[in-house]
Amino acid sequence: MPVDAVPEKLLNWYDAHHRRLPWRAGPGEPRAAPYRVWLSEVMLQQTTVAAVKSYYAHFTTRWPTVADLAAADEAEVMAAWAGLGYYARARNLIACARAVVNDHGGAFPDSEAGLRTLPGIGDYSAAAIAAIAFGRRAVVVDANVERVTSRLFAFDGPLPVGRPAIRELADRITPDERAGDFAQAMMDLGSSICTVRNPQCLICPLHGDCAARAAGNPEAYPVKAPK
Ligand code: ADE
Repeated sequence: MPVDAVPEKLLNWYDAHHRRLPWRAGPGEPRAAPYRVWLSEVMLQQTTVAAVKSYYAHFTTRWPTVADLAAADEAEVMAAWAGLGYYARARNLIACARAVVNDHGGAFPDSEAGLRTLPGIGDYSAAAIAAIAFGRRAVVVDANVERVTSRLFAFDGPLPVGRPAIRELADRITPDERAGDFAQAMMDLGSSICTVRNPQCLICPLHGDCAARAAGNPEAYPVKAPK
């Protein structure tokens, strides 16, 4: 199935239907500040959007810049994190803010490779921040992107071994421009339409491009290896 039109269709859908989330750029802004993108991506690892919102609001009010967070009292940051879980993330959050201030003059590195050198920033976060905050072309793959991509191509290699191949497929459809919006469009599509159960294919902007939809079995993807 040709997928050439996928980026444009998905970006058009995103422009009309994206979730207005507090860490996303507002109307007329090309991109959100790297500090805000980084903070949201760290919080969103293993935590839902709904749960993250109030924590994000508190952190950005209490520590509006990365320099503020770097200078923060550690115990206060840990207390503010309480409830989000995975406390290693909070410790890395402080370490990362301090590294940005001490080693990078207070500015986040603007490439995936540079971002990956920072505490707590792995492949996923580096790609997400490079694309969303810096407009870099980066392939951002989370569980939503994996599901949407595997369905689009009816890719039947089982997870987890199929993961690198799904990443290659995601690479094929990632546009050179607006890679950050594209990644967030994949996430929004995955959370609202291309859901794990009962995907709403009839209202999906990629309806006509989706191999799993054509075969009538989108729920079969991504294929999981038997336990
Ligand atoms: N989950 C992780 N990053 C996200 C983002 N930028 N928007 C929505 N959900 C996300």
